[in-house]
Amino acid sequence: MTEVVICVGSSCHIKGARRVVEGLTKLVKESGMSELVKLSGSFCMGRCEEHGVSVKVDGEIHFVDPDHVEEFFRDVIMGSWK
Ligand code: FES
Repeated sequence: MTEVVICVGSSCHIKGARRVVEGLTKLVKESGMSELVKLSGSFCMGRCEEHGVSVKVDGEIHFVDPDHVEEFFRDVIMGSWK
């Protein structure tokens, strides 16, 4: 099970956290990965200055552009199983 925690603090909210949440939720569902990926939200991760929304994948933090959620899902989340 891959744990994905999306920051929904105010700074990430402004950067499009909602689109990241919605995009990942959809991609996980569409790819039939609901059993393998656990999505949750978190308050500020202390990395507001970074470009992109803070998202932790199994404890490792990434900064996600809401326009590139699909690439993030494919390369980082699915990539973590290789
Ligand atoms: S609000 Fe997301 S890292 Fe601060």
